[in-house]
Amino acid sequence: MSDQRNFVILLGPPGAGKGTQATRASLRTGLLHVSTGDLFREHLRNGTELGNLAKSYMDKGELVPDDVTIRMLLERIDRDDASAGCLLDGFPRTREQAEALDEALTSRSGAVAATVLIDVSDEVVNNRLGARISCSSCGTVFHKHFNPPDDANPCCDNVDLVQRDDDQPEAIALRLQVYSDQTAPLIAYYGTAGKLRRVNGDQSPGEVEDDVYASLRELIE
Ligand code: AP5
Repeated sequence: MSDQRNFVILLGPPGAGKGTQATRASLRTGLLHVSTGDLFREHLRNGTELGNLAKSYMDKGELVPDDVTIRMLLERIDRDDASAGCLLDGFPRTREQAEALDEALTSRSGAVAATVLIDVSDEVVNNRLGARISCSSCGTVFHKHFNPPDDANPCCDNVDLVQRDDDQPEAIALRLQVYSDQTAPLIAYYGTAGKLRRVNGDQSPGEVEDDVYASLRELIE
C-alpha cells in the first residue's frame, strides 16, 4: 500500500456479514478492523455514560445520534494502531457521517480507498440474525446452523453464548427500515465517487471472503 492511510468501508444491511468479513479481510490485508457497533457494546460492558446512551438506541434498532458516533469513531482512528488505515464496519451509516469522515480524513493524510457493499436480501438477513449467537466475553460471532460453536468447547471458559438484544424480530424489522432510509443512500454517494464495489453476500462465508479480497486486491498489492 502507499504512504497514504487507506480506509475501506464495509457497507450492507444488518446481518449482511460485515463483521464476519471484516475479521477475515483484516487478517488478509493487515488493516485494523474498527466496528462502531462493537465500540458501543464495549462501552456498554464497561458501564460508561456513552454505553448507556447508545443502548437506549441500539435495543430498539435505531441509530445512535451522529455527533456522538462521529466523535467516538474519530477518537478510535486517531490511535497509533490505526496509522496505516482501517476497515470500517458499520460506519458511516448516514450521509452526515460519510461527509464528516471525508472531511476528517483530508486532515489526517487518509482517504476512503473503497467501499465494499455486501449485498443480501431481507430474507437472508432474517435467517442470519434470528439464529446469531455470540460469546459474552470475547464477542466472537457464531450462527446456530451456518457456523455453530463446538459443543465441547464453545468459546471462552465458563461464559455463555448469547443472543443480542437487537436481534429480536421487532428490532430487526426497524434496523432494516433504518438501513433502507438512512444508509442505503450511501450506495449512490460512493458510487458517484467511483469507490463502490459490490459483492454477493448470499454465498458461503469463504466465497464472500474471496470476493471481498478480490475487490480490494489492487489496493493492497
Ligand atoms: P452493528 O453491530 O454494526 O450491527 P449491524 O450493522 O446491524 O450489523 P450486524 O452486526 O447485525 O451484522 P453484520 O453485517 O456484522 O453480520 P455478522 O457478520 O454478524 O450495529 C448495532 C447498532 O449499533 C445499530 O443498530 C445502531 O444502533 C448502533 N450503531 C452502530 N454503528 C452506528 C453508526 N455508524 N451510527 C449510528 N448508530 C450505530 O453476521 C450475521 C450472522 O450471519 C452471524 O451469525 C454470522 O455467523 C452469519 N453469517 C455471516 N456471513 C454468513 C454467510 N456468508 N453465510 C451464512 N451465515 C453467515
